[in-house]
Amino acid sequence: MNNSSNKRDKHAKTKWDNYINGRLSIGTKPYMKSLKKYGVINKKNVLDVGCGPGEWCFAAANLNPKAKVIGVDIKEKDLNLAIKYMRDKKIKNCKFLNESYENLLERFQPASFDVIMCNSVIQYIDEKKALYIFSKLLKKDGILLMFWNHGPGYYLQKLFLGIKKLDIRESLFMPNVLILGTLKKYLLNTKQDYFVTLKNLKKISKEVNINLIKIENEPKLHYQDSFLGLPCVFSCKGIKT
Ligand SMILES: C[S@@+](CC[C@H](N)C(=O)[O-])C[C@H]1O[C@@H](n2cnc3c(N)ncnc32)[C@H](O)[C@@H]1O
Repeated sequence: MNNSSNKRDKHAKTKWDNYINGRLSIGTKPYMKSLKKYGVINKKNVLDVGCGPGEWCFAAANLNPKAKVIGVDIKEKDLNLAIKYMRDKKIKNCKFLNESYENLLERFQPASFDVIMCNSVIQYIDEKKALYIFSKLLKKDGILLMFWNHGPGYYLQKLFLGIKKLDIRESLFMPNVLILGTLKKYLLNTKQDYFVTLKNLKKISKEVNINLIKIENEPKLHYQDSFLGLPCVFSCKGIKT
């Protein structure tokens, strides 16, 4: 590897680490406020799918001291940050698993969870498969929360902002996602849908007996609801019927 690609890698790594640490550094309060609003109180079993550094897990654990909160992610590096935070803050009721959502039915009994959170993840995974799995794992009347799902407007906005700021990385984000996403979807048959829509999610949820409603945007994340009329972000709450 030459010097300039080394430098580029180092820059990307630092940017990413700062970003992840930033998410943990705001503490659990804003996340707790949201969870409280959406009824995640007095719960016993909570699962966070694609938990990343675990900010939602810690908020749920704080708000529900008697709960057992399990965070699952395929990225070991982010889980290590979650584990470090958990140890530093002496949080006792969280556990983290390095696992894909695809294997959760082998890990847990059906109807094991009162709450499943899946925040900013559904656009990276096969939403049909994921919702099927979540519906099996949720107890009756269990809550499914999915905040912050990117829509086409999110990517378009990133492209415009990137061009405006002359930021090559930001401007290339959308074409990158679009081209790689389309190639992966059709050539590798990954079934991943970067432009997952609420309409599609609602349709799939109905098939698996989850009643999904759109709720207002996650307030602390500061994303716009739409851009040029295209959806950017949405948050949904589902109830298993
Ligand atoms: C944008 S991050 C969101 C992290 C966290 N939920 C949050 O709201 O900050 C997306 C996460 O989904 C995880 N992820 C992607 N595919 C996954 C899979 N198949 N199983 C579990 N986690 C997955 C990624 O590793 C990443 O940590």
